[in-house]
Amino acid sequence: MIVLGIETSCDETAAGIVRRDDDGTGTILSGVVRAQLADHAPYGGVVPEIAARAHVALLDRVVDETAKAAGLALNEVDAIAATCGPGLIGGLMVGAMTGKAIALATGRPFIAVNHLEAHALTARLTDGVRFPYLLLLVSGGHTQILVVHGVGRFERWGTTIDDALGEAFDKTAKLLGLGHPGGPAVEKAAEGGDATRFALPRPLIGRPGLDFSFAGLKTAVRLAAEAAAPLSPQDVSDLCASFQATVAGIVARRAGEALARFRTETGTQSPVLVVAGGVAANRAIRAALNAAAERAGGRLVAPPLPLCGDNGVMIAWAGAEHLALGESDGLDAPVRARWPLDQTAAPVVGRGRLGAKV
Ligand code: KG4
Ligand code: ZN
Repeated sequence: MIVLGIETSCDETAAGIVRRDDDGTGTILSGVVRAQLADHAPYGGVVPEIAARAHVALLDRVVDETAKAAGLALNEVDAIAATCGPGLIGGLMVGAMTGKAIALATGRPFIAVNHLEAHALTARLTDGVRFPYLLLLVSGGHTQILVVHGVGRFERWGTTIDDALGEAFDKTAKLLGLGHPGGPAVEKAAEGGDATRFALPRPLIGRPGLDFSFAGLKTAVRLAAEAAAPLSPQDVSDLCASFQATVAGIVARRAGEALARFRTETGTQSPVLVVAGGVAANRAIRAALNAAAERAGGRLVAPPLPLCGDNGVMIAWAGAEHLALGESDGLDAPVRARWPLDQTAAPVVGRGRLGAKV
């Protein structure tokens, strides 16, 4: 089956087309991503209304280009999938309405995709990973450890109680005047830096459970920056390197603990750890996770860089996975700002943020 996917939940306008064969293997036929970086840059972050308008302006052409690149007309796809949450509601409405309109015009089924599930299932497209596996989801709005039991079947073992990891990167970058999005900028600045120069805290580490906290770390970076001001380029590099090494250590430690629990609970001898979400692009974090997975007798699967950030291919693939189970949605499927993967997970005590960027 061939599925078109549409992604508009944040500041990337994207579409992709994948083919899923009956044996469960997938092939990417095309993918187009238009980042709206310049539109949001003056504000130092994503402005929801600007994002929604940009999606309106860009999406038709992005879908056209995606179809052309795959050598297909829109009525040659078997289904249309669109991100219906979680995310910024205006953008979600643009993508969902476009997807539903194409579904209606072509008479094909529509699939309402959870953006987080799409990140989670990408490793099955790229690496044929089998259920169950452990997932570390690290993006601009989420930092979660989940067990993926199957399509639509997630169990949350840990989450951030305050900032998401991507957000911590973005805030660190903003503080140091490195621009938005902060992750790639911090990673680049860290290249020539001394990771041992600033001792930063590792909140919650050493405590039981698999939750994360990054807000205190952000404050520590600010205090260190103020103490060292005025900052030379070397100071900035050292701070970025110290920050990056600290967060890599935090996620690797939690991943190691989660892998041990996963082995015990599932009886899996060589567990697979999948890292997904925009922060999965970070090489220092990948290296630390790789080492943690190896120590646990397992392996790390990290999607190729273009599939780490938001993209339409992952939405198409998630749609195909649902369609293969005979699942599709009505044209009345709602868009949702919040849509947790594990609906049964208890809310995190002390979590002060609701409806955050995802
Ligand atoms: O998954 P994503 O593209 O969007 C959502 O949040 O859903 O993730 C974006 C986040 C941003 O916070 C960005 O700064 C971060 O991923 N990011 C990185 C890197 N590339 C993107 N963080 C650290 N290192 C990177 N190389
Ligand atoms: Zn994302």
